[in-house]
Amino acid sequence: MAPDGCLYHNSRQDMSSYIFQCFLESMDYDYGFAMLLQKALVVLFCGTLMAKILRHMWSFVINAEKKPVKVLVTGAAGMRIWLSFLYILLISSNVCYNHIYFDIIGQIGYALVPMIARGLMLGPDQPVILHMLDIEPAAEALEAVKMELADSAFSLLKGVLATTDVVEACNGVDIALMVGGFPRKDGMERKDVMKKNVAIYKAQASALEQHAAANCKVVVVANPANTNALILREFAPSIPPKNITCLTRLDHNRALGQISEKLNVPVSSVKNVIVWGNHSSTQYPDANHAIIVDPGSGRERSAREMVADDNWLKTEFQTIVRQRGAAIIKARKLSSALSAASAVCDHMRDWILGTPKGTWVSMGVCSDGSYGIEPGLLYSFPVTCRKGQWSIVQGLNIDEFSRARMDATAKELAEEKLMAYSCLQVEK
Ligand SMILES: NC(=O)c1ccc[n+]([C@@H]2O[C@H](COP(=O)([O-])OP(=O)(O)OC[C@H]3O[C@@H](n4cnc5c(N)ncnc54)[C@H](O)[C@@H]3O)[C@@H](O)[C@H]2O)c1
Repeated sequence: MAPDGCLYHNSRQDMSSYIFQCFLESMDYDYGFAMLLQKALVVLFCGTLMAKILRHMWSFVINAEKKPVKVLVTGAAGMRIWLSFLYILLISSNVCYNHIYFDIIGQIGYALVPMIARGLMLGPDQPVILHMLDIEPAAEALEAVKMELADSAFSLLKGVLATTDVVEACNGVDIALMVGGFPRKDGMERKDVMKKNVAIYKAQASALEQHAAANCKVVVVANPANTNALILREFAPSIPPKNITCLTRLDHNRALGQISEKLNVPVSSVKNVIVWGNHSSTQYPDANHAIIVDPGSGRERSAREMVADDNWLKTEFQTIVRQRGAAIIKARKLSSALSAASAVCDHMRDWILGTPKGTWVSMGVCSDGSYGIEPGLLYSFPVTCRKGQWSIVQGLNIDEFSRARMDATAKELAEEKLMAYSCLQVEK
């Protein structure tokens, strides 16, 4: 039974409306105001409901899977061919691959593909499709890598292509990690290795140019990395020159590691070392601008001041970083693979997702004449990256010691460039 004087007495209003009206009347509100309040509550209720629906729809959008990125890895089988003299002859004369002795070892490509498939290169929410390329004698080993990837059930891995066909491998790729190359073995002249590799990079340049995605980003790892990248750029003129780089991040990371060990601080506290020039023994690891960040206060101090030993920075530090690859070969009887693969991921991740604020990294990029380096050389500079674009850090003070070493490594690159063109019999 409704209390006396209630509005909608005997009407068919629902119970809540009825109680609400009774409440208002008992509070002595006038009818017009009560209706207004009721409408306001209805609007509030509908608004809240709508916001919930929109939030739900938005979470659906942001949780939706991103489009997979196609990543090419050349030399993915990690299969080293034992270079007998016979083999060199066979390859040089393009005769056949039969009767060649193979020594199978897991190298950079083998270490790299699981890192990519796990999201270490492009992030934990970026699906990938791997295109793995190797040469015909490594086809079976490449299939084995494909089987292992399937057995690893990587959730980000949306497809794997294992092929020895360079055109198929390059088709539609957004990122190209050029690890495959001809290794230098005892008895081979530098020019012989250069001849093999520039020929490979010339051929792969045209496949990339014709079949890769228009904005494909390339990093050349295989040695001579800077000059292979220069040749790739030369023979893929429609790929923007800024998209062709080479790997010097391994040397950069090695320099960070040495400063961290010297000062007994975590490597994450060290930043802004530089590796200038060639990925070779003439490279110049430079700690003059490096910074040590205190993890607690965030306070920054000069690494050079903290090391307080310029002689060490100019001698031992240089030798250790430059000769680290040789030291690993001596100890492991194999060249560095894990650290090189990790550096490839670092290089691409920072390029695509950006360098942290106030931090630069070393990348082999096309010189624009910065720091007096011959324009067009593929030279390692300090760079910052934003929105998929790198920029050379400008305005660093270069002392006499640094100038001499930066010029020496540039000179070596200019000579390598001439040698590469002479191998391809191209006039430059
Ligand atoms: N830039 C750097 O910081 C850096 C660091 C370490 C190694 N490297 C260089 O990276 C390269 C790879 O090193 P690795 O230890 O993995 O060597 P590796 O010999 O173990 O593997 C090379 C792979 O490339 C393949 N290959 C050869 N010719 C090919 C071609 N035309 N197309 C596709 N694949 C081809 C081989 O079959 C092999 O699987 C070497 O040139 C090495 O000197 C560079």
